[in-house]
Amino acid sequence: MIRQKIVAGNWKMNGSTESITALVTDLLKAGHSNSEVVVSPSFPYLHLVSTLCAQSDLIKLAAQNVSDKESGAFTGEVSASMLEDFGVKYVLVGHSERRSLYGETDDLVALKIQSLLNKDFTPMFCIGETLEEREAGQTLAVCERQIQAVLSLLGVEAFNRIVIAYEPVWAIGTGLSATSEQAQEVHCGIRAFIAKSSDLVAQRVQILYGGSVKASTSRALFAMPDIDGALVGGASLDAKEFLEIVKAAG
Ligand code: PGA
Repeated sequence: MIRQKIVAGNWKMNGSTESITALVTDLLKAGHSNSEVVVSPSFPYLHLVSTLCAQSDLIKLAAQNVSDKESGAFTGEVSASMLEDFGVKYVLVGHSERRSLYGETDDLVALKIQSLLNKDFTPMFCIGETLEEREAGQTLAVCERQIQAVLSLLGVEAFNRIVIAYEPVWAIGTGLSATSEQAQEVHCGIRAFIAKSSDLVAQRVQILYGGSVKASTSRALFAMPDIDGALVGGASLDAKEFLEIVKAAG
């Protein structure tokens, strides 16, 4: 099964009107890629990036979070229907920073995915183990538990509309990327777990790797049969570096 590669930049809580305008302008100069190129600015900059990208089809927009609620008295939250006003295609959910710093549980993440699938968004569903969990040999068990919450609420067919991002927590922002073999082993395990519910869905679902991806490590990662792209944090703030990663994806 041929799965299109996705290279997504997670800008996290970084950037200003000036720096984001410069970054997007540089990214747009690169021209066509066979991979899907995605950037995810903070909410206040979605409109700016959507406007900058309006004339081309080169870059898709992602939001970094969404509420599980539709509307109402939820101060500080942003609903899926609000994101519809900004040309957003993807939304990150379950990022480890949301789980560890803001207490998001597997069940809440599943509800957020449900609110996105009720609209026309593609959730980028982040999963992954901590260093402690890896050392205890629980890597796959953790990923399976995180996926199971979504399977239980929404069923395996939901994964026809979800992109998974495997991001080992110990590799995020640490410079310690998983080796391509370590990542491949987990990606393969994740696909096998989904295949227990549906082989077809498992073959189709795109699984990105995230965690200190750099231009220098990306080619080996993308050569692996179950790695369908990357979710890139730090390196996505540098246009040259990010475009090298896009190039490596082919
Ligand atoms: P990093 O972040 O590339 O800076 O490790 C990845 C992520 O958090 O998505």
